[in-house]
Amino acid sequence: MNDWTTSHDRVPAQRNAESWMFLIEAARDLRTTGAVAPSGKALARVLTDPVRVQAPRPLAVLEAGAGTGSVTRTLIPELPRGSRLDIVEANPRFAMRLRRLVTAHPHLAATSAQVNVHQTYVEDLDTDQRYDVIVSGLPLTNFTPVQVERIMARYMELLHPGGTLTYFAYLGTRRARALTASRAEARRHAAVDEIMATYQRTYATGRWTVWVNLPPAYVWHLQRPLVSADQVEPRSYGASR
Ligand SMILES: C[S@@+](CC[C@H](N)C(=O)[O-])C[C@H]1O[C@@H](n2cnc3c(N)ncnc32)[C@H](O)[C@@H]1O
Repeated sequence: MNDWTTSHDRVPAQRNAESWMFLIEAARDLRTTGAVAPSGKALARVLTDPVRVQAPRPLAVLEAGAGTGSVTRTLIPELPRGSRLDIVEANPRFAMRLRRLVTAHPHLAATSAQVNVHQTYVEDLDTDQRYDVIVSGLPLTNFTPVQVERIMARYMELLHPGGTLTYFAYLGTRRARALTASRAEARRHAAVDEIMATYQRTYATGRWTVWVNLPPAYVWHLQRPLVSADQVEPRSYGASR
């Protein structure tokens, strides 16, 4: 049984094995795993839209937090010829599964795309590479504000000017936490939301709601500007003499 088949043609046994693996990892460490089930096909498609938009030129793509590869399986067939894909996953068991998935993928041989799986935290990824698209599956709302600042700053640094970052957040998590968690935990979540809101106000090009996912999720697309703020000439408005 191959791992590279799409979620359409994977047999139920494969889907069950993937779901079980995800659930076991969530039980081991829910904060880092960030979900109890892999993302669905609809969510994966919206997350990978910027790859389709920028094709057919060869692209440098980074997928961070790939888990069992549910988004990776949608991403790989969309890669234009001569592209590069770096997959970063912190969990060693998920990383091993991802290596198996990419090793046997028929699309990669056909398109001469270069794919590497890095088992590390994305904020520690040591590279000079810059990317056209970054697809993030990280559960940012589970992290501390300091971690989120660090990860978002690193994402922006890793993007080419004009490049796109896509990521998702489940609907209603802040309200659920406010009702069920400690005050400190609710404050942490609110602080993370505030950081993300600042990035969204500055860089967002779109937000979509994917209802057909369990749980439903927002997908955000953020774009690194073509010129940085300090390169923009200051404009004078209605200067009077
Ligand atoms: C919510 S799951 C998403 C998995 C997959 N992308 C999906 O949508 O089904 C989050 C994944 O991010 C990984 N992860 C968490 N923090 C990470 C980090 N700092 N760097 C890289 N991967 C991380 C977890 O191990 C987990 O596989």
